[in-house]
Amino acid sequence: MPTTSPGRLVHDAEGRNSGTRPSIDPHHVITPVSQFFKRSHAEYPVVDVKAWRLQVRGLVERPLTFSLEELTRAFPVRDVAATLVCAGLRRDEFLALGPLPGELPWGPEAASTGRWRGVSLADVLRAAGVTDGARYVELIGLDQVERHGERFGFGGSIDVDKALGADVLLATELNGAPLPMAHGFPLRAVVPGWIGARSVKWLAQINLSSEPSANYFQSKAYRVQREINPDDPRDVSAGVAMRGVPLNAVIVDPAPDAVVSAGTVRVRGWALGSEARALARIEVSPNDGETWTPAIRVAADGPWTWTFWEAAVELAAGRHTLVVRAADAAGTTQPASVAETWNVKGYGNNAWHRVPITVE
Ligand code: MTE
Repeated sequence: MPTTSPGRLVHDAEGRNSGTRPSIDPHHVITPVSQFFKRSHAEYPVVDVKAWRLQVRGLVERPLTFSLEELTRAFPVRDVAATLVCAGLRRDEFLALGPLPGELPWGPEAASTGRWRGVSLADVLRAAGVTDGARYVELIGLDQVERHGERFGFGGSIDVDKALGADVLLATELNGAPLPMAHGFPLRAVVPGWIGARSVKWLAQINLSSEPSANYFQSKAYRVQREINPDDPRDVSAGVAMRGVPLNAVIVDPAPDAVVSAGTVRVRGWALGSEARALARIEVSPNDGETWTPAIRVAADGPWTWTFWEAAVELAAGRHTLVVRAADAAGTTQPASVAETWNVKGYGNNAWHRVPITVE
C-alpha cells in the first residue's frame, strides 16, 4: 500500500516511486522539482560525469560520441515545457475490478510538468545522418534493471518521425537547474506527448534501427493487452506497444471523500489531449454523469503541457459523485468507465474521473 511522507504518496520502500497532488494554481503550471513525481525501475546509477559519454549508433551515416560539454556546445539550446505522464497513472481505479499483481497502484499523482532545457534530439540525429532504413530510435539508460535473471539498462524506442520533431529533447536541465539524480542526471530524453517511459533517464545510448527496440520495456511491458494469457497471466508481449499518452482529465479539488459546504462548489483539475493535442472541451458533472457543465480553462504553458481548468457546480447536502471528461481536437473522447479500458497490466486508464464527496 502507498505510504505518505509530507504531501507525497510513496509507493516503495526506497522512495524511488512517488508523487504529489498538484496545486491547480494558474501561476504554477510548472511543477516544482520538490513536488515532481518520480518513477524508476531500479536503483539510480552512479554516474561519473567526466567519464560519461552519449553514443549514437546503428543506422546512421556517422556514429557519434559526445561528452556532456561537447553535446551542449555542438547544438543550439532549446527550452520545452512538457508534462510527463506515467502509463500507470490512475491504475488504482482498476483495482475495483480485481488485483493487478506486481504493478504499483498509482493514482493521479503520476504526472508532472517540467520546463526542460537541452538540445534537440533531431539536431543530434541530423549530425549523425539518419539512413533510409532507420525507422526507430532506441534510447537506453545507465540504470541496471533486473528481469527474468537478466540485467540491462532501461530503454525503449520512438518512431524516427517523432524523434525528428524539434521538441523532443536531450535534456540537461529541469526548471532552470541541472537534472536532479532522480530525474536522470546528467542527460535524459524528454518525449513530449508520449508515455513517460519513453523519456529515458540517465541516457547513454541512442541506436537507430529498422525495428522497435527489443528492450524489455518496449517488447514486454508498456503494452496494452486486454486478454489474459492463460499460460502466463502477467505476460503482455502480445499487446499493443504504447506510444502517445491517452487523452485524460483529472479532478484535483475537491479531494476524494472531502467534506465541503452546500452551495457553489469550485471544482478544479487538469486535462491533457491525446499525444498532448489541443483540447476541444472539458466538462464537469455534479451528479455522476447525468448533467454536465463546461469547465473554464485557466492556464497552460505551450502545446505540450497539461491545461488547468475549473468549474462551479451547485450542490445540496448529501453524498455526490463529481465527474470530469474531456475531448480533444482529434475528436477523441474518454471511455465512461474503467471496465472499458481495463488491461492486463493496468496501463493508460483514461476513463471519466469520478470523485465522491460529502456536502454538508
Ligand atoms: N528511464 C530510466 N533509465 N529508468 C526508468 O526507470 N522510468 C520511466 C522514464 N524513464 C525510467 C526512465 C518512466 S516509466 C517514467 S513515467 C518516467 O521516466 C518518470 O520520470 P521522472 O521519474 O523524472 O518523473
